[in-house]
Amino acid sequence: MDIKTNIKKIVIAGAGVMGASFAQIFAQYGFNVLLYDIFEESIAKGKKLISMNQQNAIEEGMISHDESQKLLSNISFTMDIESFRDADFVIEAIAEKIEIKHEFWKQVSEIAPEEAILTTNTSGLSINKIAEAVHKQERFCGMHWVNPPHIVPLVEIISGDKTTEETLEIVKELALYIERNPVMVKKDIDGFILNRLQYALLREAFYIVENGVASVEDVDDVMKYGLGRRYACIGPFETIDFGGIDIFFNVGSYMFRELSNSTEVSKLLKDLYEDGAYGVKTGKGFYDYSGDKAKKAIEKRDKDFMKVAKSLS
Ligand SMILES: NC(=O)c1ccc[n+]([C@@H]2O[C@H](COP(=O)([O-])OP(=O)(O)OC[C@H]3O[C@@H](n4cnc5c(N)ncnc54)[C@H](O)[C@@H]3O)[C@@H](O)[C@H]2O)c1
Repeated sequence: MDIKTNIKKIVIAGAGVMGASFAQIFAQYGFNVLLYDIFEESIAKGKKLISMNQQNAIEEGMISHDESQKLLSNISFTMDIESFRDADFVIEAIAEKIEIKHEFWKQVSEIAPEEAILTTNTSGLSINKIAEAVHKQERFCGMHWVNPPHIVPLVEIISGDKTTEETLEIVKELALYIERNPVMVKKDIDGFILNRLQYALLREAFYIVENGVASVEDVDDVMKYGLGRRYACIGPFETIDFGGIDIFFNVGSYMFRELSNSTEVSKLLKDLYEDGAYGVKTGKGFYDYSGDKAKKAIEKRDKDFMKVAKSLS
């Protein structure tokens, strides 16, 4: 399938953190992108996010000023739901609430052309559950990105029970066209792949801190300077091959039973949650983000991610 012939207009719903970023990615590859939201202030926020991301990308040498201007000319904004009427591809990145997603998809899947491909960027809601509100579910699937998506290249493509192979193939080809790394999640399973791996790791990280083995800072350092460096280049199964099946088999025979098997949310996380310490967005989480520290932390994260992306591309 020729992606550019078949997909001319991409409509992205939700001009938030994820939607604003998607708009830049597709616009960069020459697609005509429309960013839809129901709130005027969200559209304004989306424009601000795009401009901030573009500024950072220019400063990091990821894109030239002219390329950035060209990209921006491919993005339009709308609050008109009729904009979905001639969409070829829809990406939904609105609030993570099933009632809101159902209301959206009920309307949009009726308005959009029957051959349009429909995707949701839900973090964790069931694809099959969201699909209950979708007219012609065979063209609907999950397309889960990682924040910040304009820098992190992974895209999880999640099949619902009724999604056709043809739909999945088109989503995969589009992801490849925009130079992302798609993976196919063949079953609609909670957390898909990335979040299952992430939460398995978090369970152990909480266990280590709560049992006084190491501090939050030191656990973060183990990931940043140890495992994270490795996993940016090779995956867990490749790691076993390099280390030796025998080594991992022998260590595994005593290590798995040592690991936390908690099925509860950690107390550490619960206490912060109950204190309203939500992290960067409230100025306090595991670390202090008061004053301008939050803004600086986000800028540093984005620049560091870009450096890794550049050096590994
Ligand atoms: N932020 C992340 O790290 C991340 C990562 C992966 C997936 N996701 C998922 O992506 C989706 C969006 O997340 P976000 O972080 O961009 O949220 P966000 O709050 O930054 O943006 C959501 C946007 O959706 C708009 N919106 C709400 N209801 C709408 C409706 N009915 N129609 C159109 N627009 C509507 C809001 O005005 C807002 O601009 C969620 O499903 C979230 O779980 C987020």
